[in-house]
Amino acid sequence: TNAHHIAVIPDDGIGKEVVPEGLRVLKTVSEKFDCAFAFDHFDFASCDYYLKHGQMMPDDWKALLGDHDAIFFGAVGWPDTVPDHISLWGSLIQFRREFDQYVNLRAARLMPGVSSPLANRGPGDIDFMIVRENTEGEYSSIGGKIFPGTEREVVMQETVMTRTGVDRILRFAFDLAQRREKKHLTSATKSNGISITMPYWDERVEAMAANFPDVRWDKYHIDILAAHFVQHPDWFDVVVASNLFGDILSDLGPACTGTIGIAPAGNINPEREFPSLFEPVHGSAPDIAGHGIANPVEQIWAAAMMLDHLGERDAAAAVVSAIEAVLAEPQYRTPDLGGPAKTSECTEAICRALRDIG
Ligand code: NAD
Ligand code: IPM
Ligand code: MN
Repeated sequence: TNAHHIAVIPDDGIGKEVVPEGLRVLKTVSEKFDCAFAFDHFDFASCDYYLKHGQMMPDDWKALLGDHDAIFFGAVGWPDTVPDHISLWGSLIQFRREFDQYVNLRAARLMPGVSSPLANRGPGDIDFMIVRENTEGEYSSIGGKIFPGTEREVVMQETVMTRTGVDRILRFAFDLAQRREKKHLTSATKSNGISITMPYWDERVEAMAANFPDVRWDKYHIDILAAHFVQHPDWFDVVVASNLFGDILSDLGPACTGTIGIAPAGNINPEREFPSLFEPVHGSAPDIAGHGIANPVEQIWAAAMMLDHLGERDAAAAVVSAIEAVLAEPQYRTPDLGGPAKTSECTEAICRALRDIG
């Protein structure tokens, strides 16, 4: 077997704790399945690197990472030492834009045995994917500040939607919905208030829907959509959203499944012109970093998403099954899920479950 060539970037805070756990699971995968990995470790894209070098990444980062099959990423940001917009725009946002990872695919699933903060919800009631536009929209670099430091100060940051950018994310989302059992797509909009870009988004959704006659689709304004996530999470299958709306929904969705500490994200360049990047949805969690209690499931589930992207479908499915089996056991849950387990104990249980599968 040819080894998959993976760039490993743990970054900051709990990223440094959960990335090694993800690698332990991948090592178990390579013992059990017919696949191999070659890992290259990088220390940049972290606030420690910034403090030493005055920038988040070396100038040749694109060349250093560009020919890897995927990037396995932790979480970046340490606001006590480096302002977030500097650390994030100097790393993660550069990857997404420069490697054209225009899909941010995120999962929200209530796992068997885990209790939802929403009353009377069980497994099967919350199981949807969020397809977040990841390179344009509200996260644009078009804007600026004029008359700085005066009473006339003005700041602006434009929302940018291109036809190519909107259509390709919608095509990906409809295509995903078409391949799922429920074949249902929901679009997040705000065309009542944001009167130029959001009506355009709606118009492109309608045009794209014509190519997918077997996908049932609907749309909600983002405000009521957030409410429906809480009151009717069972309505959703694939949810497509602009960059900012998708960001918010992808914290809310997993929160409804009991913790934000299990949610994975794939920053995907579907054309495979550049490496895709797999990471947890969540951040460096400064409040718990260094205590060995972070939930490793987000990073391990991100590893499963990466396996799927690399074509290792059986291994990916086995990792997700192992996660499900372990989360069903209260003693292996980390404190965010009300359990007593340390990060490493949860991972060990997942590795054991993986060895026992099939
Ligand atoms: P956060 O996601 O880091 O933490 C929010 C809350 O969730 C905290 O209470 C944290 O303890 C908890 N949490 C998150 N992951 C957990 C896990 N695996 N197990 C248990 N609890 C978990 O969000 P924040 O506090 O807003 O951000 C902290 C830093 O991370 C900031 O610098 C922010 O910009 C950055 N950030 C980075 C990414 C990324 O790299 N993709 C994503 C979000 C935030
Ligand atoms: C995420 C994060 C990032 C985003 C931040 C840290 C810039 O919240 O990956 O969801 O907004 O995309
Ligand atoms: Mn976010």
